[in-house]
Amino acid sequence: MTDFEYSAGAFVYRHYGGAVLFLILKKQNGEYDLPKGHIEKGEDSEVAAKREILEETGIEAQFDRFFSEITRYFFFNKGTRIAKQVRFFLCEAETAEVKISKEHLAYEWCDYSAAVKKLKFKDLVALMPKVKEYIRRRDEIGRINSEYSKLPQKSKGWSLSRRLVPGEGRLDAKLMLIGQAPGANEDAQLRPFVGRSGLLLDSVLKKTGINRNSVYITNVVQFFPPKNRLPSKEEVAHCKPLLFRQIEVIRPKYIVTLGNLATGAILGMGQVERNHGRIIRKDGVDYLITFHPAAALRFKENYGIMLKDFEKLSEKIGEKA
Ligand code: URA
Repeated sequence: MTDFEYSAGAFVYRHYGGAVLFLILKKQNGEYDLPKGHIEKGEDSEVAAKREILEETGIEAQFDRFFSEITRYFFFNKGTRIAKQVRFFLCEAETAEVKISKEHLAYEWCDYSAAVKKLKFKDLVALMPKVKEYIRRRDEIGRINSEYSKLPQKSKGWSLSRRLVPGEGRLDAKLMLIGQAPGANEDAQLRPFVGRSGLLLDSVLKKTGINRNSVYITNVVQFFPPKNRLPSKEEVAHCKPLLFRQIEVIRPKYIVTLGNLATGAILGMGQVERNHGRIIRKDGVDYLITFHPAAALRFKENYGIMLKDFEKLSEKIGEKA
């Protein structure tokens, strides 16, 4: 007989000097583990992980919105085989202060190699390189976005919104979607593709089996152009180098250019009407050209075309996955 158990926890880290330190807890049996515990009735894994972290460390955790990894293992308890699944989130702690509960003997903030040595579970240790790389990308994207958000102060005659709408998604996404520029809804929420175009894009992704939470979504120009006007050539030229740096950090295998502006800025070619559905390989990345969701809102037939284009990509991603 097998029983199933579900737990949730997190990689809690902080920066100290130039290093990244991970929080590990010493259990009563002397083994080291991450903060984690059972998912109680009525909780989802995120709620359970936050509760466990608060109980075990006193930290009010804020998770990376997109990072989540699952580990699975088996053990025996009084002759019963237990299949355990644990979902781990990622949390940057603001302070070094930790208040452990009676459940643990001690806590340690360990650098990467010490954490790898001390953690008992192999499945956790196996995740560590991925977590380390993810944190590096978070830091790097944070630096680029901070630079990007200062463009309005640095540029003469700035007439876009002054609020950066940064890209969002998994920082190790295989697939990146790039639009033109945020609209008014995006400017209000500071998130890309959350208005009507975003809803249409969500529907295309859903219908073609692509999970929005596993892709990275952004725009060429990451400031709202008032009245939704087309960004000028100069504005695109200002923003493009920062977009390219973001692409270098995410290193996606596939990029979708949504509409003429993105296709022109990234691939140096426009005319989506003629070129949509083409997958172009450049510098090791496969680029799919397709319509901008706004064009599919305006003309219904473009929605069907977008679906077909994305299906082609989805099949290609499936092939290589
Ligand atoms: N249109 C875009 O190009 N980007 C958004 O984020 C929203 C609408």
